[in-house]
Amino acid sequence: MQIDLQGKVAIVTGAGRGIGREIALTLASEGVITVVTDVNEANLEAIKQEFEQLGYQGSQYLCDVRDFNRIQQVVGAVVESYGHLDILVNNAGVAAGGMVTSLQEEVWDLNLDINLKGTFLMCKGVIPVMKRQRSGRIINAASFAAIVPSIGSAAYASSKAGVSQFTRVLAGELGPWNITVNCYAPGMIPTDMNHFAERPEKDQERLLDTLTLRRWGSKDDVANLICFLASDLAEYITGTMIDVSGGKLATQIPKVAYERAEAENHE
Ligand SMILES: NC(=O)c1ccc[n+]([C@@H]2O[C@H](COP(=O)([O-])OP(=O)(O)OC[C@H]3O[C@@H](n4cnc5c(N)ncnc54)[C@H](O)[C@@H]3O)[C@@H](O)[C@H]2O)c1
Repeated sequence: MQIDLQGKVAIVTGAGRGIGREIALTLASEGVITVVTDVNEANLEAIKQEFEQLGYQGSQYLCDVRDFNRIQQVVGAVVESYGHLDILVNNAGVAAGGMVTSLQEEVWDLNLDINLKGTFLMCKGVIPVMKRQRSGRIINAASFAAIVPSIGSAAYASSKAGVSQFTRVLAGELGPWNITVNCYAPGMIPTDMNHFAERPEKDQERLLDTLTLRRWGSKDDVANLICFLASDLAEYITGTMIDVSGGKLATQIPKVAYERAEAENHE
């Protein structure tokens, strides 16, 4: 059994850096014509050069997921260039935080506007194309925060819980057109969003203790899942959230197993 994505066309939002960048490079390495969008021009230029060096197919567009006019321009240009649009990965996101009592209204709006409304607007932009094709894959970045949020993450967690419910509703609405809609919960992957691996040792240990598979996630872990979800192998999966977080949501205190394993090793 093999994942075959050759010749498909994908848009990956916020793919100038971090997990999105890895998703874009991995899809492109599998023969997908990959359209990278982001708000950061310098990062777009860097990935453009990388695509050229590696001989990958695709293009790059400056596009804020909050700007529906721009989204429509980009989708129009993609369809004009490549004739079809098979995959949308709504990866773009921000994670500005703060305790509710001191949380600025602007910070709340930023999280909701980019993470949730941006996902909605991108979907609205591609759906007419996918409906015409009677096929498509929409894959949204949610988070384990949608289920088990951390203190100080009210805005982010609310936006990601919204993404999770939005995914289910949209999957229901697009079933008749053979378009699948799923989301994924990555974690904990050190990126410029969270700087997990640069935190003091004690903080890192505390975070790692919450994971069933006690290591940081890699961007590859997520990119591999995206390839599967985008492929024909996943054609009967829709309306669900797939956890790719090393078992972050599996049990209450995974550390207990590590303590027992250590004791067993000393027996
Ligand atoms: N890193 C993790 O452990 C983790 C955990 C759970 C969920 N996620 C989710 O995965 C996604 C990627 O996270 P990451 O860690 O790579 O973050 P990151 O900050 O490294 O990358 C986010 C990207 O989104 C882009 N972006 C921000 N606002 C945008 C906008 N308005 N329009 C278009 N692009 C915009 C940024 O320029 C950046 O390239 C996010 O949605 C995040 O919430 C990440």
